Amino acid sequence: MNTRPRAAAREGGLTVVSSGARSASPGGWPPRTAVVTGASSGIGREAALLLADQNCRSLLVGRNGPALDEVAAATQGHRIAVDLARPGSEVTVASRAAELLGDVDLVICSAGLGAAGPFDVMPPSAINDLVAVNILAPMMLVRAMLPAMLDRGEGRILLVGSVAGALGVRGEVVYSATKAAMIGFADALRSEVSGRGISVTLCLPGVVDTPFFHRRGAPYVRRWPRPIPAGLVAQRMIAAAGRGDAEVWVPRWLSAAARVHGAAPSLYRRLAGVFG
Ligand SMILES: NC(=O)c1ccc[n+]([C@@H]2O[C@H](COP(=O)([O-])OP(=O)(O)OC[C@H]3O[C@@H](n4cnc5c(N)ncnc54)[C@H](OP(=O)(O)O)[C@@H]3O)[C@@H](O)[C@H]2O)c1
Repeated sequence: MNTRPRAAAREGGLTVVSSGARSASPGGWPPRTAVVTGASSGIGREAALLLADQNCRSLLVGRNGPALDEVAAATQGHRIAVDLARPGSEVTVASRAAELLGDVDLVICSAGLGAAGPFDVMPPSAINDLVAVNILAPMMLVRAMLPAMLDRGEGRILLVGSVAGALGVRGEVVYSATKAAMIGFADALRSEVSGRGISVTLCLPGVVDTPFFHRRGAPYVRRWPRPIPAGLVAQRMIAAAGRGDAEVWVPRWLSAAARVHGAAPSLYRRLAGVFG
């Protein structure tokens, strides 16, 4: 039994977390099964906990075995410790998912890493790592999972991008580029699978309170914007995937910054020069 209390968070008038009673609703929602990458920490971990509250059975993906064990125990989920930067790891994940879960209703790609510092001194190996984990791995995993979803005519894909991909953040050149690629991937894939029962939702978080900054070796030092809780991001992105939304910005006001960036890039650059 999942012993976590059943939360009943509401998001935009929609109950995000159910009491556990589920109907076989069309469109694969609420999800009965999910694959969650980055489930050992931060946003992915919170997403896995939230899905367990909806009686969703998950395959939790990460590298840190003890951290995965802890989430697996709390969610009654399955776990697989793999390095997603390793070519072919997506095949391992997809076949374990088929074996343990059967049909997969939802794939959440949250695994990712950051890097901060000037591009001209960035080690080439760090560039490789960022590209491998932040963009190649989600593409490969979705590539591995999508055919079965298309065959069933049902499935949800939830990709975790970043506002950095929409705005381009100085000192985070490669990270921004990988997350910009995620935007292109999400847009193009959504358009390609449109009308075939598959939704593609892109989550664009701002600054989130997770171990992300510590891991990249550069703490978050700005006083504004304040980091938001990972649980809030998980709630909002899962609700957005349930509605089949194309994208969700967390917090919402970030979409305004992206609109200024798109509509008036030189004004945006001047403002970014002032505010950093
Ligand atoms: N925190 C923020 O401010 C923020 C803002 C915007 C977007 N995001 C994005 O949100 C996503 C989640 O980040 P987070 O904040 O939750 O960070 P986090 O707490 O550091 O979690 C990162 C997760 O990615 C997994 N991961 C990293 N490299 C991996 C690899 N090679 N193979 C398998 N798993 C790997 C980690 O697993 P192990 O620990 O088990 O290796 C961990 O579960 C990322 O895509 C990030 O870019 C974060």
